Amino acid sequence: MTQPFEQIPPLNAALADHLAWWGLRRFESDAAYFQWQCDTLSSHDLNDLNRLAEAKRAPGGTGAETAFYDVAANSHILPVLYSQRYEYYDKVGPIVAERIGEARTILDFGCGIGLLTTFYARQFPGCSFVGVDRSAASLTVARERAKALRLSNLRFDCLDLEQTPLDDVYDLIVCTQALMQSERDPGLPSLDWRTFERARDPMVQSSFEQRTGVGGRLDRLCAGLNASGRMLVFEKTRQLARRVPFQRALAARGLRLLEVPIPVRYRLVEEVADDGPLFHLTNRVPLALPESVPVWDEAPEHLTDEELHHCRGEGARFAWGRLPQRQVLKEASWDSPALGSLRAEWGWSGGALGYLYVTAGDRFTGLVVGRLGSGRRLECEIGRQIEAIGENPAALEAWLESAWPSSVTGDHPSLTPLYENHTASAQTVWLSLADRRTLQTSTFDEAPELQMHVELGETPGLMYLYGANTFDQRQLVVMEPQRGELLEQYYHELRTGSKLERT
Ligand SMILES: C[S@@+](CC[C@H](N)C(=O)[O-])C[C@H]1O[C@@H](n2cnc3c(N)ncnc32)[C@H](O)[C@@H]1O
Repeated sequence: MTQPFEQIPPLNAALADHLAWWGLRRFESDAAYFQWQCDTLSSHDLNDLNRLAEAKRAPGGTGAETAFYDVAANSHILPVLYSQRYEYYDKVGPIVAERIGEARTILDFGCGIGLLTTFYARQFPGCSFVGVDRSAASLTVARERAKALRLSNLRFDCLDLEQTPLDDVYDLIVCTQALMQSERDPGLPSLDWRTFERARDPMVQSSFEQRTGVGGRLDRLCAGLNASGRMLVFEKTRQLARRVPFQRALAARGLRLLEVPIPVRYRLVEEVADDGPLFHLTNRVPLALPESVPVWDEAPEHLTDEELHHCRGEGARFAWGRLPQRQVLKEASWDSPALGSLRAEWGWSGGALGYLYVTAGDRFTGLVVGRLGSGRRLECEIGRQIEAIGENPAALEAWLESAWPSSVTGDHPSLTPLYENHTASAQTVWLSLADRRTLQTSTFDEAPELQMHVELGETPGLMYLYGANTFDQRQLVVMEPQRGELLEQYYHELRTGSKLERT
């Protein structure tokens, strides 16, 4: 069903041409983008858009949402506003297009100005596409553009799915950022701060589906799906607290995963967007599915190497110098054309940490710290790099830059912790700390449903601060005992509720 990977480059090239035809431009820097925005849009335009954007995010902002998309469809605003989402189209468009597969009738729900719908219709002239949206002004643009492209396999219907059901059925329904009304809904909290698990309470689930509008929209979309139909769904559900009830809403309507949810990472010019994943679903009965289909996963997303803490420059030198009970396992040195003589050392510190330290005189210093078991992983990593570098010295600088991007340079070297983790994986690292001993601890409700736990403790040779809450935020900071006062200060900041917030 999914077309081969080799087809992606031509698809990307076609999409780049398509976006340029729509007048979209790709920007790498906020400064350049906002300059263009200032040159093109009046302050009245900007005020209008900002006001409506804010109002559409508020609960019950349906009217403001449609008004926002109506204004955004103005010919002088459209290219500027939609260029901000260039990378979004660039990432989502090909993923959807590669999965059109054998579908012949395709609905794009919430198609907006039809920017991607017209792309799909151009790529698949043998398929018939319908775009629906409730923003009349967006659809006027969509129809004009489809006409200019001479697309005879595409139609646009203006309807609000909340008011009017679909009057046809489709092989495939595409729904990208159009299902979930309330962008700021925090979702469903976990049972308590120790776990990422959620209760299964039908009332709570129903309240989520109503608040976000997901329930009603999904019911109507599912009614418009052929037997053995498929859906491609992409929403702002990266946070586990939103993803779990969203997945449950999909599963409750008999939708099953056809493949592991696809992570989609993109930037709004320079800002990293926190969206996805993209779900590829079917309403086929389980007996008609291959045995290997994935099951719903309610665990937090686990990114490769997120347990490892990287720092470079002065901060790295400072932290390495303070790693207590440092035990060097191995050392290596070699020459690099650009950096001269390089030295790497890896080993253990205290009873809990594994580390890798790389220096090239005063030209480069980098430190990676992980839990004890990661010492072995780091050793493998550096071993692999040394082998690769033996054959290709230029690979070394590239590897150093990718492992320690300039952004990992901390604010002030003396504040650089030995280890720091702000992802869900901090929980695994915290649990792995040997002979943990709690010095101070506090569990309290910061807000209804927002339970928070803060803990200051020690593990042989090291001190740590751990924070966790029911909206899946985790934070672990490890320092040597000499900086215990600093950790204690952080503990009180968390205790008074200022640092970990529900997002
Ligand atoms: C964020 S835009 C996404 C546009 C497009 N799908 C994309 O991926 O770029 C959301 C669109 O969904 C439309 N929409 C939201 N709720 C809708 C509803 N109940 N009925 C019809 N259209 C809806 C909005 O008018 C808007 O054009």
